[in-house]
Amino acid sequence: MLRLRAPAKLNLYLRVLGKRPDGYHELETLFERIDLADELTFEAHPHEVQLTCSDPTLSCGEDNLVLKAARALQRQSGTQHGARIQLTKRIPIAAGLGGGSSDAATTLLGLNGLWRLHLKHATLAELAATLGSDVPFFLSNASYAVGRGRGERCEALPQIARLSHILVVPNATLSTKDVYGGADFSLTASKPSITIALHALRNGPALAGLAEGLWNDLEPEAIRRCPVIARIQSALRESGCIGVRMSGSGPSVFGLCRDALHASEIASKIRAASPSSWRIDIIQTDQPSTRMHTVPS
Ligand code: C5P
Repeated sequence: MLRLRAPAKLNLYLRVLGKRPDGYHELETLFERIDLADELTFEAHPHEVQLTCSDPTLSCGEDNLVLKAARALQRQSGTQHGARIQLTKRIPIAAGLGGGSSDAATTLLGLNGLWRLHLKHATLAELAATLGSDVPFFLSNASYAVGRGRGERCEALPQIARLSHILVVPNATLSTKDVYGGADFSLTASKPSITIALHALRNGPALAGLAEGLWNDLEPEAIRRCPVIARIQSALRESGCIGVRMSGSGPSVFGLCRDALHASEIASKIRAASPSSWRIDIIQTDQPSTRMHTVPS
């Protein structure tokens, strides 16, 4: 049996550069892998691929990205192997944290190992991109990466810094497709360049500089659809976070903190004053060593 973590991500920076002929949007984004993670176990099974999940609201049918990833591997390799897969869900669903994408990437890695397929990283990355724009990021062991194209062309950054955040997730979900579809990217607000956040990360990190470099072009449309996002942002700012942004297409919001102690002080303040429907977590950058995979390169 194989047991693997499937960590979530934040987008420290997400800028939409334009709409593409294929309907997707051209992006420039800075991913950070965080230590909030689902868990997947993989066991050999004679023929079928069976999926069970700790969260009864999540479909375990063919529309689940875990099964889609398994099917993609079966098609690619022609293998007759089956597997019993158990998914323990801890990452909030449809919240902008990449949980489904991470589960899919972890399934590619897990079944590549369990079935001894020895598919190379480049092949897995191609399969990953067919499953979703964020999936390739989760194949790598990197804590930070810059994503371009649909987000699937990832360039890992060396481990630079371990950040501490407060993560607040309201009891709401947003469809990525709807948020992209409704947004007006022609608005010409002055936006920071990604180099501000990259430079700040490399220097220490320089937290004040990093706070200035945080950005998300999807925020206005997500807030229009889900106004509680703006309330969470105000609460985090008032509680002393250095910088505050939404992740992905929302509705999760993160607040950048000085360190883990600062994050736990802010978490106490927010917990005392916020509705019980907000989920509040203290999170940190996920360390590369916590997720070892043996994939031939
Ligand atoms: O790639 P993924 O399945 O995660 O994308 C979900 C939806 O989000 C897409 O169908 C598309 O509408 C939108 N999207 C986009 N541009 C991107 C990524 C996602 O328009 N770069």
